[in-house]
Amino acid sequence: MILAVGMLAGTARFAPGETGQDAWLRYAPMGATERAKYEALPATVVALGDSIVLATAEDEMVRGVTGMLARALRKEKSIRGGAIILGTLAAIRKAAPGFQPSFQIGADGFLLFSTQIHGFDCLVVTSTTDRGILYGVFAVLSKIARNENVTDLNQVEQPQVPVRWIDQWDNLNGSIERGYAGPSIFFENSAVRADLSRVGQYARLIASVGINGCTINNVNADPQILDDSFIPQLARIADVFRPWGVQLSVSVDLGSPKSAGGLKTFDPLDPRVVEWWTEKVDKIYRQIPDFAGFVVKADSEGRSGPSSYGRTPADAANVIARALRPNRGLLFYRAFVYDHHLDWRNLKNDRARAAYDIFHPLDGKFDDNVIVQIKYGPIDFQAREPVSPLFGGLEKTNQGIELQITQEYTGQQRHLCFLPPMWKEILDFDLRISGGNTPVKDVVAGKTFHRPVGAFVGVANVGLDANWLAHPLAMANLYGFGRLAWNPNLSAESIAEEWTRLTFGNDPAVVQAIVSLQMKSWHVYESYTGPLGAQTLTDILGSHYGPGIESSERNGWGQWHRADSRGIGMDRTVATGTGFVGQYPSAVQSLYESTRTTPDDLLLFFHHVPYTYVLGSGKTVIQHIYDSHYEGAEQAEEFVRQWKSLRSLVDNDRYTEVLTKLEYQAGHAVVWRDAICNWFLRTSGIADTMERVGNHPDRIEAEAMQIEGFVPIDVDPWENASGGKAIECPKASGCSAKFRFERAAGRYGMDVRYFDQNNGASTFRVLRNDQPVDEWIADDHLLATKPGGDSSSWHRIPAILLHPGDEIRIEGYPDAQEHAPLDYIELRATPESR
Ligand code: GCU
Repeated sequence: MILAVGMLAGTARFAPGETGQDAWLRYAPMGATERAKYEALPATVVALGDSIVLATAEDEMVRGVTGMLARALRKEKSIRGGAIILGTLAAIRKAAPGFQPSFQIGADGFLLFSTQIHGFDCLVVTSTTDRGILYGVFAVLSKIARNENVTDLNQVEQPQVPVRWIDQWDNLNGSIERGYAGPSIFFENSAVRADLSRVGQYARLIASVGINGCTINNVNADPQILDDSFIPQLARIADVFRPWGVQLSVSVDLGSPKSAGGLKTFDPLDPRVVEWWTEKVDKIYRQIPDFAGFVVKADSEGRSGPSSYGRTPADAANVIARALRPNRGLLFYRAFVYDHHLDWRNLKNDRARAAYDIFHPLDGKFDDNVIVQIKYGPIDFQAREPVSPLFGGLEKTNQGIELQITQEYTGQQRHLCFLPPMWKEILDFDLRISGGNTPVKDVVAGKTFHRPVGAFVGVANVGLDANWLAHPLAMANLYGFGRLAWNPNLSAESIAEEWTRLTFGNDPAVVQAIVSLQMKSWHVYESYTGPLGAQTLTDILGSHYGPGIESSERNGWGQWHRADSRGIGMDRTVATGTGFVGQYPSAVQSLYESTRTTPDDLLLFFHHVPYTYVLGSGKTVIQHIYDSHYEGAEQAEEFVRQWKSLRSLVDNDRYTEVLTKLEYQAGHAVVWRDAICNWFLRTSGIADTMERVGNHPDRIEAEAMQIEGFVPIDVDPWENASGGKAIECPKASGCSAKFRFERAAGRYGMDVRYFDQNNGASTFRVLRNDQPVDEWIADDHLLATKPGGDSSSWHRIPAILLHPGDEIRIEGYPDAQEHAPLDYIELRATPESR
């Protein structure tokens, strides 16, 4: 919280603020010029039918048109003049017998068609299903919001992927695993929330991008979800989803027949277990007739599974799938199955192999309503991974791709990281199965192997925060997931542009700046976190946030990068390594088997090389590590400058929220940069040719200041604090650290680096010659309880006038378990140019 800096001066110039709750469905009023384009739009809407989804579509059309165009849209029962007509093909043919569109429309697809009916100019939104009509309505409204033409329409849109689901990892107690935007919208205190209004809003949002199913609870499922007493509560959520064409699904624990059902076993092939699942599923369908199905995480990270009884994933999946089949329910079985007690000393061990080793031999053994849900990469949602070879290893089994919208390893919605560019690289990757043209997007859509279904699943983890995902720009990932699930051929840039126009309006300067930020953000994040496919070098044992380089080593989790004094990377080749490369189709094997043909950005995923290895770019690996981290941090700083150019063009609330996040990110990028560069310098002993690493002439370490009350502490791991040390104040009355300024007189920017834990809210004050300069409270809600890479934060004082001999004093006042931990200050000589 900023108490004294006048950062918000001049707020009166800004447009009124927006909370972000309506996300990309704001339907903001248009100016007169933009509005003029829609004068010919009919003034009535006619819904031919009375289903609940059709009624939603009609209401949405009214809401959008009245919101954006400042005029009424009357609902009529029949076509008595020019109208927007919403109806299935069958209903429209009945009302207008001559109506004959030239397109075929499949499930969930829609047609937007300008035509004359009974002599009146009409805009027809039609489909074979009411859900398709709803999607068509959202498409028309999106066009209007983006100021596109809606006259003379003749456009058919067909989803490329039949099953497009969101998974939420919500716990019944209201917390969310890997959720960064507040508590669950679905649950609290082991029950479904009384107020489901946010659930309705969420269903509207995800429906607007074509999502047709939503799993509401953690894959690490609580068996209580299947309690008979819980099913009516689930039915309440299904009721809220239904008007939006979103079907409910839940994650289930395979051990439920035993842990919740009172049986002595959960062996999937035991007849009592089969009966238990059948009865349970029947009970669900009696109360939720459009129930979508289950998601299963088994034999993974401590979850129970079929291996307890010597059964296979196919045995387990099929038993439940057969119970679901009569009602057309689906069973998603996650391929995220691996041993997390691997022996790291054995260089042949490799977690990346697990999914293929387990599931490939079972190809053809899964029932037709089972979908094997595969994370995009063989490890776990890293900022850079090759595609999972399992996509190429299941030809007689339905597959779905699992993408992660919640930014677990990609900055937890504190860092900007627009993921569609990464997802596009995965989806467009050509597996060259049997030498053919077989991009991942076709395989998971079910097209390549002519499967009955294919699926996209996005783990979203929105929460009760007003703007759903905490970072106003992060919603582009949810939007982008839906758009790619609908059509994986869209470009990331076009998605970014659509989203920006819908979310921030059509001002070209705003659109250009936000699209540019979004499009750069993944590469920037990658460049200051993990290099060359060595994975996101984060704390994998704790918060998955901030640097934690050695946390992945010398333990059984298998996220190893194997960096030592000589080199870095996992040898996964067939010739000398773990053999993982051999799981890909042969054309891809030959790409990855040799260091010469492996792309630089995946080199360390597949190969162990010396730090002096020269990359395709001409740089050594070690110099690349240094350079990319410096460049990444500089670009994060550049993001702040770019955003500031929008100050008068974006509403004040969102402007300030994004600015605060980007400023924090720029500071955290420095933490990442320094931790990684210093660690590799110490480990390799090879200096940075540009002499930046380890040299910080503008920095004054807190432990080197004259301290009163503060005590020096060692930060563990050392690389997460400058010089490995910080100072803390154990005295409730406060402590101080001071130094004399001895540089040339002038205005300086001052960055104060401190640690912001979530177990206290310390106060910091900066004084110059006893005069207060600034004061703030360290009350951010970072997932950290001690000084470290995840709690390190900074406070920036834009400009302070200093003269030689001035005394600068920083006072720290502890609160609860947080002892005003301070790392360093940095004085930058040219604040004006920043
Ligand atoms: C990651 C994540 C877990 C999650 C798991 C999964 O490992 O950190 O919280 O349960 O993925 O996808 O099952």
